Amino acid sequence: MRAIGVNTYGGPDALEVVELPEPHAGPGEARLRVRAAAVNPTDTLARDGSRASNASSTARRWGKDPPPYVPGMDAAGEVDEIGEGTDTELHVGDAAMAIVVPDGSHGAYAEHVVVPAGSVVRAPAGTSAVEASTLPMNGLTARLALDTLALAPGQTVAVTGAAGALGGYVVQLAKADRLTVVADASEADEALVRSLGADVVVRRGDDVAARIRESQPGGVDAVVDGSLQGDALLDAVRDGGRIATVRGHRGADERGITWHPVLVRDVATDHAALDALRRQAEEGVLTLRVADTIPAEKAPEAHRRLEAGGVRGRLVLTF
Ligand SMILES: NC(=O)c1ccc[n+]([C@@H]2O[C@H](COP(=O)([O-])OP(=O)(O)OC[C@H]3O[C@@H](n4cnc5c(N)ncnc54)[C@H](OP(=O)(O)O)[C@@H]3O)[C@@H](O)[C@H]2O)c1
Repeated sequence: MRAIGVNTYGGPDALEVVELPEPHAGPGEARLRVRAAAVNPTDTLARDGSRASNASSTARRWGKDPPPYVPGMDAAGEVDEIGEGTDTELHVGDAAMAIVVPDGSHGAYAEHVVVPAGSVVRAPAGTSAVEASTLPMNGLTARLALDTLALAPGQTVAVTGAAGALGGYVVQLAKADRLTVVADASEADEALVRSLGADVVVRRGDDVAARIRESQPGGVDAVVDGSLQGDALLDAVRDGGRIATVRGHRGADERGITWHPVLVRDVATDHAALDALRRQAEEGVLTLRVADTIPAEKAPEAHRRLEAGGVRGRLVLTF
């Protein structure tokens, strides 16, 4: 089968078309004929072999196997094999979406991918594979971050990087959880972030904590830090509040504030959570945002565009 992988870590041009043996679904697994694979920041870190943070654990794993290494954590397409005895509501031919935990030559940037049955659900009705591929990984991360913060309706959460794929889902899920949402945005993104449901929008940037605090003088109950602001956020948070981080950051111990690094791999087989995201997309709670559709063999272009910043919605590779 055709896949996109790297034989040597490097810049976007390290991504090349590779030929791999077709994988088959074993017991407890299903196989997707991948039509769409979303491009995420973690894919770019893995591609260049970055070992600087938790988010590059893919690259660390890859190091143990011979190349090529195939990135990609989000896939959508049709179910085309179900392993023997697998307990699943899916049938061959169903439109489905999956979270993929890359490992060596196993990744979402491929014509076929085999995943545990817990990692794949029906695609939201009425969505294309391209749209559906934008949901699993960032939707599950957003859900995990909010569940980890364990807020009650009426409490306040601030979201940084709110215009991003993860931040956008956090804003929408938090509103569905009946939280008050303070979100950051550039001037250009303000309308977008408001349209996602943020109650208060503050200007992004170095002073974001001060601006959040200005809008919530007692400090917010919690933050989901989608844009890696780290310790600079402490001033925005009330005593005893919580901060969820997405690249392993644990910041300074201050005023009883606790840090909660989240890792989506921990919930990659949470079928109920993934299916709830499917339902929330169907209900219009979650907006599936596609920036552009790019043929898989042009993956270097997709990585270049993502790394340049300013992409709104996800870039999606098509197979
Ligand atoms: N731990 C996990 O399991 C996990 C899972 C999913 C994602 N993540 C991580 O979560 C982060 C967000 O992912 P994503 O897919 O949402 O990325 P994304 O779509 O690129 O969104 C990031 C957003 O943050 C904005 N931003 C960048 N620098 C900023 C700053 N200084 N202040 C305010 N906003 C800033 C970006 O704007 P510009 O485009 O203008 O730069 C963009 O809107 C990434 O670091 C990713 O690796 C971790």
